[in-house]
Amino acid sequence: MQDWLWWRDGVIYQIYPRSFYDTNGDGLGDLPGITAKLDDLAALGVDALWLSPFYPTPDADFGYDVADHTAVDPRFGTLADFDRLLAEAHARGLRIILDMVMNHTSDQHPWFLQSRASRDNPRRDWYIWRDQPNNWQAAFGGRAWTFDPVTGQYYLHAFTPWQPDINWRNPQVYAAQMDVFRFWLERGVDGFRLDVFNAYYKDAQFRNNPPKFGLRAFDRQRHIYDIDQPEMIPMLNDLRRLLDAYPERYAVGETYLATPQKVIGYCGPDKLHAAFSFDFTDQALTYPWSPAYIRRRIEAREALFNTAGVWPTTVLSNHDLPRAASRYCRGEDDRMAKIAMAVLLTLRGTPFMYQGEEIGMRDLSLKRSEILDPPGKKYWPIYKGRDGCRSPMQWDSSPQAGFTTGQPWLRLHPNYPSRNLAAQRADPQSLYNFTRNLLALRRQHPALRRGSIRFLDAPPAVLAYLRQTDEETLLVALNFSARRVRFTLPEGVTPRGYVLLSAVEQPTFAGTSLILPPYEVCVLVV
Ligand code: NOJ
Ligand code: CA
Repeated sequence: MQDWLWWRDGVIYQIYPRSFYDTNGDGLGDLPGITAKLDDLAALGVDALWLSPFYPTPDADFGYDVADHTAVDPRFGTLADFDRLLAEAHARGLRIILDMVMNHTSDQHPWFLQSRASRDNPRRDWYIWRDQPNNWQAAFGGRAWTFDPVTGQYYLHAFTPWQPDINWRNPQVYAAQMDVFRFWLERGVDGFRLDVFNAYYKDAQFRNNPPKFGLRAFDRQRHIYDIDQPEMIPMLNDLRRLLDAYPERYAVGETYLATPQKVIGYCGPDKLHAAFSFDFTDQALTYPWSPAYIRRRIEAREALFNTAGVWPTTVLSNHDLPRAASRYCRGEDDRMAKIAMAVLLTLRGTPFMYQGEEIGMRDLSLKRSEILDPPGKKYWPIYKGRDGCRSPMQWDSSPQAGFTTGQPWLRLHPNYPSRNLAAQRADPQSLYNFTRNLLALRRQHPALRRGSIRFLDAPPAVLAYLRQTDEETLLVALNFSARRVRFTLPEGVTPRGYVLLSAVEQPTFAGTSLILPPYEVCVLVV
């Protein structure tokens, strides 16, 4: 196996540009802001950056409604700023992948403006128009069809009505979309994160989805006709051929309504390199955070991925979900956040870290009148939307956390005077320094990156697994409880005395047992 492959061995850090760092005081993070912080990212020890959309957008879905796929929104900078960012990132050994939103565009995209202008416009068929809707539902609420009085037909949109779905079956559209990918590859980007890629194709006959039990109308359907159509595979084959024409390019798909089975079906040497399987973060966030659950879930995924030869990914947080630290920690206590970080960085697979996760940022809680996110507006208070995890990055304790000198587009979390990067950098016990040490350890030890994984039987509060290559075996042991736990190592697993990392205090040994202090995270050589 090749010794280092950036997207397999490295850690990918997601940047949500508008909340990262603002250089011109307009309250929105921007591309020069990312460039300005590259040294910080390199110092943390991540390997690649995934940039959420920075393309021109009317912000009906905060950038996921793209009005031009090959340009930079002036609020975020210019193409020259992008080129500089890419060059500066590469100079520091950081790769960049772009978020490609190719299932839909903004309703302000010139293609859609033409498509909706008249029924005989040459671009009419670039979107999906029908005389009658079927039963398909939009993920953000309501029907997936909106009537357009201009031409008297309905258009399809999987998300908001301001995000019409593209007709990938039209050969001209297909070619135009491929040109977009090519445009960025030619500019030197290292790969793509594909937004809801498995929704590109819909059933050619527009059959109704069959019913199932669920809460919202969207959940009361089996999504067999609006996503996951067989035409997806030849498209991925083409995309992969395009990527492979350049060295070490990568594509990771955001699998919409993912199951591990689906995910492996979309990956392989002639398809995607990887696709997210949201093992800890399904839509409802109902998954328990316990050693038993994590073990069960990862063992099931390992069996499938190993057989298929597909490389897994691990995700605990992103711009669509309540942050892991908010889900798993009590108040400002970071002990469980360290455990979560250890899970993220030591399971087998590529970790995706979301900006602020390294300092344990918590979700911002907003009043109804402050909600900006469309599904949050629609479903409040049952669902409050995704603004909570999008609050600006907390750099230091100066006004607005050093994020902006102006008025931030979304307010700062009130905990920023104490929870910020500068403070955590100075504190050897902080989550930030723990994360940094763990990232360095991961880089030093191939077993943590590519080694096999085997879970060990342990007391209920303990999650323990071995990561193993021919050269070394490491034991990762995590105590999820507030109590000291004695963990008797199974036969054949003998500690060699080297504790490579410990979050709380060096664990002690008692014969063949390891005594783990409360919330201990330890990595040791066995
Ligand atoms: C998935 C993205 O992650 C999310 O933020 C967006 O709203 C939808 N796709 C629609 O593009
Ligand atoms: Ca700005």
